Amino acid sequence: MNPNTLIDLACGMPKAELHVHIEGTLEPELAFALARRNGQTLPYADEAALKAAYDFDSLQSFLDLYYACADVLRTADDFRDLMLAYLERAAADNVIHTEIFFDPQTHTARGIPFLTVLDGLEAGLREGKARWGISGRLILCFLRHLSEEEAFATLAEAEPYIDRIDGFGLDSSEKGNPPSKFERVFARCRALGKPVVAHAGEEGPPAYISEALDLLGSARIDHGVRALEDAAVVARLVREGVPLTVCPLSNIRLCVFEEMNQHTLGKLLADGAKVTLNSDDPAYFGGYLNDNLRAVQSAFNFDAATWYRLARNSFEASFATEAEKAGWIARLDAYFRAAGHPLG
Ligand code: ADE
Ligand code: ZN
Repeated sequence: MNPNTLIDLACGMPKAELHVHIEGTLEPELAFALARRNGQTLPYADEAALKAAYDFDSLQSFLDLYYACADVLRTADDFRDLMLAYLERAAADNVIHTEIFFDPQTHTARGIPFLTVLDGLEAGLREGKARWGISGRLILCFLRHLSEEEAFATLAEAEPYIDRIDGFGLDSSEKGNPPSKFERVFARCRALGKPVVAHAGEEGPPAYISEALDLLGSARIDHGVRALEDAAVVARLVREGVPLTVCPLSNIRLCVFEEMNQHTLGKLLADGAKVTLNSDDPAYFGGYLNDNLRAVQSAFNFDAATWYRLARNSFEASFATEAEKAGWIARLDAYFRAAGHPLG
């Protein structure tokens, strides 16, 4: 099959996105529009000047800008508009289910009430479902550069609304902030009956992946791309079928790998790891989910069976019900059959 046809096949697949930070979908145009609406001035002359600052050499250099830009998010309508803008782009990429991270501490620290964030994001999810049929869930992330005590305080704020939260995660500056720091917080999240995930092995060592599994009970590993540095960690991920939410363009833009053809996702897939592809912070990293698929295909030239496997993994690794997953996988199978690839 010629490569153009294969990338069209991949882009057209129904799929799930399991690793996207809603604050990371804030496009410069929307940032300036919200700043105007809220009577703020951004420390950049215009959208082009802001975009020019997207020149990162590490996770921290990105996070500094990401947290600064989040300051334009003030009202429930701001969060709703942000969610709708993301869902419109995701739906255009044939994402039919998405599990979205949000960072309440970034907002509550600025005096924005937790409920303003949650109400706004949920309003966006409801409207997105009505407009594009896309299904979405919310994963509350704790910022790992903050303390255990601050994470517990955030969890206490979230608990009255626990039925509106679908899981918990751990993000922000990885190096020096091991999963062990949040062992007790995550025990409480699990006791509340929620699945948990953690960023690990993005910039941090493979030992953080083991900690996330052993100490936090992480159901998936966000990134996990440094696993290959420890064969025992890879063997475990494969044996236990732990999903990895890999974000290829993010890893290039944050200098985890120099070039896409050096990315470990090809080897992880070949070794049998349950890899999924995701966009992480698409407004900052050069593209949404299908842009990630295009970059991966240019470097790895995957066949139809690999694309099928990646899409199927995205559904299987989701926190949806078994009935929802079965329905989506049937859609995926029908899509491949119609394209002349009966792979299901
Ligand atoms: N927050 C937003 N994007 C992140 C990433 N790639 N790693 C850790 N924390 C994040
Ligand atoms: Zn992330």
